[in-house]
Amino acid sequence: MQLQWSIPFVCLMLIRLGLSSAQQPDYAYHSCLGGIYTSNSTYQANLNLLLSSLSSNAALQNGFYNTTAGLNPNTAYGLFLCRGDVTSEVCQNCVEAASKEILQRCPNKKEAIIWYDLCLLRYSNQSIFSTMQQSPGVSLLNINNITNPDRFNQILGDLMNSLVRRAALDPSTGMFATGEANFTSFQQVYGLVQCTPDISQSDCNICLAEAVGQIPICCNGKRGGRVLRPSCYIRYEIDLFYQLKPNAPDSSPPSVGKGGDSSKLIIVIIIPTAIAVIILSIVWFCLRRKRPKDRVKDLDEITSEESLQFNFDTIRIATDNFSEANKLGQGGFGPVYRGKLFGGREIAVKRLSRNSGQGEKEFKNEVVLVAKLQHRNLVRLLGFCLEREEKLLIYEFVPNTSLDNFIFDPARCTLLDWEKRYKIIRGIARGLLYLHEDSPLRIIHRDLKPSNILLDAEMNPKISDFGTARLFRVDQTQTNTSRIVGTYGYMAPEYAMHGQISVKSDVFSFGVLLLEIVRGQKNNSFYQSQRTEDLLSYAWRLWNEGTALELMDSTLRECFSASEAMRCIHIGLLCVQEDVADRPTMDSVVLMLSSYSATLPLPSAPAYFLQSKMEPEKPLLDKSTSRSTEFSANADLYLR
Ligand SMILES: *[C@@H]1O[C@H](CO)[C@@H](O)[C@H](O)[C@H]1NC(C)=O
Ligand SMILES: *[C@@H]1O[C@H](CO)[C@@H](O)[C@H](O)[C@H]1NC(C)=O
Ligand SMILES: *[C@@H]1O[C@H](CO)[C@@H](O)[C@H](O)[C@H]1NC(C)=O
Ligand SMILES: *[C@@H]1O[C@H](CO)[C@@H](O)[C@H](O)[C@H]1NC(C)=O
Ligand SMILES: *[C@@H]1O[C@H](CO)[C@@H](O)[C@H](O)[C@H]1NC(C)=O
Repeated sequence: MQLQWSIPFVCLMLIRLGLSSAQQPDYAYHSCLGGIYTSNSTYQANLNLLLSSLSSNAALQNGFYNTTAGLNPNTAYGLFLCRGDVTSEVCQNCVEAASKEILQRCPNKKEAIIWYDLCLLRYSNQSIFSTMQQSPGVSLLNINNITNPDRFNQILGDLMNSLVRRAALDPSTGMFATGEANFTSFQQVYGLVQCTPDISQSDCNICLAEAVGQIPICCNGKRGGRVLRPSCYIRYEIDLFYQLKPNAPDSSPPSVGKGGDSSKLIIVIIIPTAIAVIILSIVWFCLRRKRPKDRVKDLDEITSEESLQFNFDTIRIATDNFSEANKLGQGGFGPVYRGKLFGGREIAVKRLSRNSGQGEKEFKNEVVLVAKLQHRNLVRLLGFCLEREEKLLIYEFVPNTSLDNFIFDPARCTLLDWEKRYKIIRGIARGLLYLHEDSPLRIIHRDLKPSNILLDAEMNPKISDFGTARLFRVDQTQTNTSRIVGTYGYMAPEYAMHGQISVKSDVFSFGVLLLEIVRGQKNNSFYQSQRTEDLLSYAWRLWNEGTALELMDSTLRECFSASEAMRCIHIGLLCVQEDVADRPTMDSVVLMLSSYSATLPLPSAPAYFLQSKMEPEKPLLDKSTSRSTEFSANADLYLR
């Protein structure tokens, strides 16, 4: 797969070197997105207008320009960015070529992006300005291996990270930085990073840092590589590939870009290289022509997969060969390890057994989908690895373990004062709302519980394990399922008993979770110790007796806002109501948690699920059942 990328890349490099000041800018990659517009539509007319406006502004602007054409709803939005080291003439040349090429490569597409060596151009039917976007993306690599990759990685990592800091943090750079570092006594490594200047510094920092984090994934041990994103790109090579600043010292090696003033040298070089280039170009075009049509589609598909694919060796090194010391725990699917990527990024790696359920294709599809879910209250899936007998999922590392380690631990629960708990409750609600309503796919989590809520360094909650959730159709509010994924004590009764799943089953689990955070005690263990009542019934009784605040965790010692606490308990009770229709949506939960003016409806009795629907003597309620069933299982299994 990597080879497919590298061949054209190497060709490009050769052509580039040959035609140092040639007129034809070098295309790198493109991505077609969005729906189709019809020929001769208003949108098409606007798009043509837009592209010509971009082209004609390329010489005038300072390397970046955004504009629109036409009126709603047929507005076309577009922008271009030229590499920070090129002249306005080169920029215009590149943008002109890109605006023609993009129509050829993405015929009738409402949205597209094209990257050249020296510029990028995007258009869309919706505003793309001032928002950071990291996908679609692609990584390209130079197939030549580097000697001494360990040392190289170290130097390259330092170089790229310092460039990122410069571009993102120093406003005078215009979000562009280049630099070099000594690799061996006769070899340098050159790096370049750039963001579209319409995004914020912190977004630029994120975009570039993530792109640099891709290097060991795409280009480990290679002499050159690029990571291209809509809002930023990075590149490194052993050879100088950018223009040094005009007033830089003369000791610079011959530059590859435009502007050689020694005409003799150019002619001498150009004649033989031009021949070589023509031959190479022919070979290159033949190769491309021969490629069957569906190949192209295939490549597009791979793009997103490719940028998510980790090398097994990278992960092996990052986790110190899956050492016992790096083991974070054992999930239902397999062990989880902590690791550190080149560049310093920390990761958590789930090592699944290769023959666990899904086929390869299905697995990849799901990873690509789940990786698109990005929210600050969700644990981010960074990628996967499918190699040899290995099947790995790579997540961002969240340092403070999970919520259950705090709220159910008599010593550590004191670390969670009311303010933190309230922040955690609101964070979980927002993450869940994103899954239910705002994410590109609507997702039901199905297994929300404290051990699936991870805490970052600032104790912000991040929901994990939503990958086990299955996609569901937008127009279906309820589906019947014979497969139950969930954990006792948190599952809504209609789901556990009849397999009826809906966003409201998550709302139920959220309610239980909320009451547990408030109380500092497990729904299950509560049941065992109090014998007669579970947490939900207890909360309901106190509520009706007008003493709801007795529910509060005694370690909080009255150090909490009574009105916030009352509100939380009230919302918790609304969420665990037996009648699915009575439970609020996460949308209203988030609203109720943040607005003190909204009046809340009165709750009805909670589902007496644990008490009335099951007999307490059954072994179901012992501790062992509090672990997740994780794998799909038949509902009967649990209700027998
Ligand atoms: C842009 O096009 C897509 C796909 O056809 C469509 O779903 C979306 O609503 C359009 N956006 C706007 C703002 O018109
Ligand atoms: C679009 O307009 C051109 C010129 O007016 C015409 O030749 C062509 O057939 C039209 N195409 C469609 C799909 O209507
Ligand atoms: C470019 O984008 C900015 C930020 O969204 C916007 O304010 C400005 O009007 C745009 N420029 C043009 C020429 O449309
Ligand atoms: C680079 O190294 C890999 C394995 O280490 C090898 O398979 C590949 O052929 C090498 N590539 C080149 C261009 O030498
Ligand atoms: C690289 O080495 C040369 C001499 O060996 C030195 O002058 C130069 O400053 C070094 N460059 C960097 C970026 O460290």
